[in-house]
Amino acid sequence: MAKTKETLRSARWFAPDDLRSFGHRSRMMQMGYDPEDWTGRPVIAIINTWSDAQPCHAHFKHRVDDVKRGVLQAGGFPLELPALSLSESFVKPTTMLYRNMLAMETEELLRSHPVDAAVLMGGCDKTTPGLVLGAISAGLPSIYLPAGPMLRGNYKGEYLGSGSDAWKYWDERRAGNISDKEWVGIEGGIARSYGHCMTMGTASTMTAIAEALGLTLPGASSIPAADVNHIRMSTQTGRRAVEMVWEDLVPSEILTPAAVRNAAVVAMTMGCSTNAVIHLVAMARRAGVDFTLDQLDALGRTTPVLANVRPSGDKYLMEDFYYAGGIRALMASLGDKLDLTAKTVAGVTLGEGIDGAEVINDDVIRPITNPVYHEGALAVLRGNLAPNGCVIKPSACAEHLLVHEGRAIVFDSYPEMKKAVDDPDLDVTENDILCLRNAGPQGGPGMPEWGMLPIPTKLVKKGIRDMLRLSDARMSGTSYGACILHVAPESHIGGPLAFLKTGDIIRVDVPNRSIDMLVDEDELARRRAAWVVPKPYYGRGYGHAFAKHVKQADEGCDFDFLETGFGEPVPEPDI
Ligand code: FES
Ligand code: MG
Repeated sequence: MAKTKETLRSARWFAPDDLRSFGHRSRMMQMGYDPEDWTGRPVIAIINTWSDAQPCHAHFKHRVDDVKRGVLQAGGFPLELPALSLSESFVKPTTMLYRNMLAMETEELLRSHPVDAAVLMGGCDKTTPGLVLGAISAGLPSIYLPAGPMLRGNYKGEYLGSGSDAWKYWDERRAGNISDKEWVGIEGGIARSYGHCMTMGTASTMTAIAEALGLTLPGASSIPAADVNHIRMSTQTGRRAVEMVWEDLVPSEILTPAAVRNAAVVAMTMGCSTNAVIHLVAMARRAGVDFTLDQLDALGRTTPVLANVRPSGDKYLMEDFYYAGGIRALMASLGDKLDLTAKTVAGVTLGEGIDGAEVINDDVIRPITNPVYHEGALAVLRGNLAPNGCVIKPSACAEHLLVHEGRAIVFDSYPEMKKAVDDPDLDVTENDILCLRNAGPQGGPGMPEWGMLPIPTKLVKKGIRDMLRLSDARMSGTSYGACILHVAPESHIGGPLAFLKTGDIIRVDVPNRSIDMLVDEDELARRRAAWVVPKPYYGRGYGHAFAKHVKQADEGCDFDFLETGFGEPVPEPDI
């Protein structure tokens, strides 16, 4: 229902002539505001994930002023509320342990404060799903402001891509092909402006998903952080947040089954990060939309990769993608693969938002007739090793490994694996399958990005750059290679990966979507009976609660009690 000045949620705090409201008003005045600032004006929460330990959001410290300018122009009252900044680069053991914490923080910040709508400022991997999950559950009008990708990396005139080139040159260094001096030069050139990773990693994937879901202004997710267009877009986002209050445009009107499907299609055409699977499933489930791995896989079979951005692409980065027309041009070229009638926060449909968009460079944004990869970026495999599914990114792995039978080499922990791969006597060939367990949501804990297991040094020296790897971990969206990830259920809770032994033969068939260990049922039953349940990692604290409530990868790793339909809705605060 459209709002009036009298029915603003914030007016419940500020308008009544009673003792509580006296307190709210006098404390606003303590900050130098007066009734002109808030009376009859939508109060816009700006959830800002800036911090001194978040390089991807460094500009948010000042960019928030541009958002505030927009809010004020449109007659609103901005209130900046800082939230967990979740830097992928620094947070240990993994930001994934804390995505749900940011989601809870966002939901409760919005619920508990005198605000009418939210601008969500995020971009680094987990911040997008964290903020969006929280906003869905809070239910206030919410608009997403993506941080924007950083500029292309540069070393001696060569492009450098976040993550992807770190892995690539690390292998070359291990092979003895790169000097210390060159290595230091790469270190100084790979991240040379604020903004999130500029490969098609999890950040670029998730901001594109936010846009395709209808949660940003048209084109917002492609603008590089350091481009002044990003400043203008930020101000427009602030203005639009105020209008959304009057229209009472809440997330449930945006996050429909059609929007989720659009987001999955766009993610696939972008050559998305494997992490997209977990976050998109989580966001859909929060919104009460039924969306499964099988639906994603089915879409993948008919959706080609069109964005020629590394690591699925061979050369370009997000800055090039923006100059080539950005996500609006990509979506415009998808024709009837998208539901263009889906509503967006902009107050127009997805179709209206991309109207007139053109591809400027068709080597960066390929036409459907000349894709980067003929099928979707992701495939979901099932079998006796992953009854609830696992994920592979066929577009980023060597073709000859897509159908493969090989000997398992199994590691119980990351440190064990790390030590072994450097051992010159490790019994391994390029036809084997490196397997890591105890790396899932509970086992990691937090499902770290360990899934791109390093190729053993002795094989790297032989020139091998890809082989099959398998785990219940995730991998960075900037990673590449034949990595089978998110095995569910995970080994730590007794998924079949717990019973795999070195020497077992694993058969992988990506075109037929299967993954099996060739071990007979009786033998598996014996191993299951002998299995010792691992000790939990945390005896107290957040990690303890995490382990009790986190769902498995195929269900999005949300907390059970945060999911829509878990129980009674949370009441609005009694003012
Ligand atoms: Fe922030 Fe990659 S480290 S997006
Ligand atoms: Mg990442």
